[in-house]
Amino acid sequence: MESKGLEGVVAASTRLSHVDGERGELIMAGYPLDEVAERATFEEMTWLMWHGELPTVAELERFRGSLAAAREIPDAAVFLLRECARRNLDAMDALRMGVDAVSLVTGDDIGIVARVPTIVATYARLRRGLEPVAARPDLGHAANFLYMLSGETPDPERVRGLETYLNTVIDHGLNASTFTARVITSTGSDLVSAVVGALGALKGPLHGGAPGPALDMVFEIGDASRAEEILRRKLEAGERLMGFGHRIYKVRDPRADVLAKAAERLFTRAGDMSLYILARAVETQAIRLLEEYKPGRRLQTNVEFYTALLLHGLGFDTALFTPTFAIGRVSGWIAHALEQRRANRIIRPQSEYVGPRYKKFVPLPERGQRDVVEVGRRT
Ligand code: ACO
Repeated sequence: MESKGLEGVVAASTRLSHVDGERGELIMAGYPLDEVAERATFEEMTWLMWHGELPTVAELERFRGSLAAAREIPDAAVFLLRECARRNLDAMDALRMGVDAVSLVTGDDIGIVARVPTIVATYARLRRGLEPVAARPDLGHAANFLYMLSGETPDPERVRGLETYLNTVIDHGLNASTFTARVITSTGSDLVSAVVGALGALKGPLHGGAPGPALDMVFEIGDASRAEEILRRKLEAGERLMGFGHRIYKVRDPRADVLAKAAERLFTRAGDMSLYILARAVETQAIRLLEEYKPGRRLQTNVEFYTALLLHGLGFDTALFTPTFAIGRVSGWIAHALEQRRANRIIRPQSEYVGPRYKKFVPLPERGQRDVVEVGRRT
C-alpha cells in the first residue's frame, strides 16, 4: 500500500536527531534543542553531529582551524558565480553550481562545510555589484560569514543570533533534503553529490524555500488590523500560508520558540519592535484561521516563520534566507551521509504500478492523430 509522501514510513535509524511531533520536542544527538542551540558554537554543533559528543578544547581548536583553513573557493567557482550574478540567477541555483565546483579542490566533509558560506557570501556580494571579501581565518564560522557579507567585523550579538539559527536548523530527522542526501550516499556516491542533491530538495517552497514568502506575507499584511482579512482571502483562494504546517509537528515546532527568542533579542537591541509585534499578531490570526479552514489538521507555526524574522533582524535580504539555511543544514546532511555509509544498504523502495498492462504495439502509420503536445511540456 502506497503511503503518499512516505508519511509514517521509517526509512532510517539515526543517532543524529529525534523529532517528537506530538510533544513538540527536538533532540539533537542526545541534547534537547534549547539546551544547545543558544550555547554552542556552530563548530561545536557540527562536531557533535559528526562525532556524537561535544568536542574537547583541543578537538575544537583543531576543528576550527581546519574549517578556517579551507574557506577559499577555486577561481573557477568565482568565475561561475560572476556569470550567475550577470544573469541574476536565484541564489540557490548559484549555490548549487558553486558547491559542484568545490569538487575541483576537495570532496571531503570539512572542505564542503567550510566553503558553503564563502559561496553564499561571494554570490550575495557579486549580485549587488560588489567584489567578494576574502575570508578571515581568525573568525569563527558564523562570524566569518557575516564578515564576508559586509566586509565589517560583526558584533557578538549578531554572531550569536546567527549561530543560534544555524544550530537550530543543523538537523531535523529525515526531512526531504536529508533523505535525498542519504539516498544519494546509499548508492556509494560521494559527499559533494549528496550535498548538491540535497540543495535541490531544500530549494523548494514546501521545504527550505518558505521563509522568503513567509516574510513577504507579513509585509503584505503590514498592519495587524488587516491580518484576518488578508489571511482569510488567501485561505479562501486555496493558498497555503507559508511558515505554517508540518508533516511531523502537530503542536508548535520547538525550533520556532528558540528562533522567536533570538529574533526578539535582535529586534529589542535594534530598538524597533514593530515588525516583531506584527509577526506575532499575524501568527495568532493564522493559527486561528487555519483551525477554522482546516479543522483537525493541527496546523501550527513551523521553523520558517521565525527564520524569516530572525534573518531579517540580522539584516539579510530574502534571497539569502534559503542559502543561509543550507549553511546550517549542510553539516547535518554530511552527518547523515557518514551515518548512512557506516551501515549502508542501498535505499530502494518500491512503487505500486497503477497503469495499464499488456498493450499491443501499434506501428507508427497506424496510430492516427492526436493533439500535438510540445516536447518538454508533458507533465
Ligand atoms: N496553509 C494552508 N493549508 C495548509 C498548510 C498551510 N501552510 N499546510 C497544510 N495545509 C493543509 C493542506 O491544504 C491539506 O488540506 P486538505 O487535507 O484539506 O487538502 C492539509 O493541511 C494537510 O496538508 P498536506 O500537504 O497533506 O501536509 P504535508 O504533511 O504533506 O505538508 C508542509 C507539510 C509541506 C510543510 C505543508 O504544511 C505546507 O505546505 N506548509 C507551507 C509551506 C512551509 O511552511 N514549508 C516549510 C516547512 S518546514 C521545513 O521544511 C524546514
